[in-house]
Amino acid sequence: DRKKTIRSLQEKKGNKEKITMLTAYDYTMASILDQAGVDAILVGDSLGMVVQGKDTTLEVSMDQMAYHCRCVAAGARSALLVGDLPFLSYHISLEEGIRNAGRLVQEGGVHCVKLEGGREMVPMVEAILRAQIPVMGHIGLTPQSVNALGGFKVQGREAERAKALVEDALALEAAGVFALVLEAVPASLAREITGKLEIPVIGIGAGKDCDGQVLVVHDMLGLYADHTPKFVKRYAELGEAARNAVQSYVREVSSGAFPEERHSFKG
Ligand code: KIV
Ligand code: NA
Repeated sequence: DRKKTIRSLQEKKGNKEKITMLTAYDYTMASILDQAGVDAILVGDSLGMVVQGKDTTLEVSMDQMAYHCRCVAAGARSALLVGDLPFLSYHISLEEGIRNAGRLVQEGGVHCVKLEGGREMVPMVEAILRAQIPVMGHIGLTPQSVNALGGFKVQGREAERAKALVEDALALEAAGVFALVLEAVPASLAREITGKLEIPVIGIGAGKDCDGQVLVVHDMLGLYADHTPKFVKRYAELGEAARNAVQSYVREVSSGAFPEERHSFKG
């Protein structure tokens, strides 16, 4: 497979081909996604929930993001690698934002970064772009704002909030983001935003009319079952498969059925 670039994602929108993105946090999963042909792999700060077991993404640090980006970069040959900027890494100053975006590229080996927020993030987007790091936007339900939003709730059902999201999308596009994640918004609003933007819109819980889709890989593989949002489709039940496998192992070791002679070395 040819190496995916931000250009190839934009070409897919032009050709009306859907863009595929999934998250990964380690080498093994990144290798699987890459071999299966996803366009982009997001090292999401959702790792705070599915890897670290926290209730939100708010405690994920820059050091942790850089580490997981490095693990994923080792497993991806052709997918575009997107590193999530974690909470507080781009909220203090433009200088800190640029440095942290640069760390994900330099230490983490990603090709571009993603940050959450609308119009208020335009100066930050422009600053990171000046360092020649492509930026992906993320609006709608932005999990780093969970406390300000009052929970993980669908965004843009009211006309005023819907209008604000359209304006945020247009402002981010004008600022130069190469693509935009749209999370947990009504499908009709997602269709409107996708139609208004020239850059690819990648939806999660945003209906079928976006230019592409993204899911958290632990959700779609059935590995993380603490909370499954309505927008997740489970393509496998790997959690159940793993529990069954481990139960068999426990049973066979206990009974002496494992290991057999073929698993043992001769003297
Ligand atoms: O962190 C993450 O996994 C994300 C996606 C859900 C878009 O931001
Ligand atoms: Na994220």
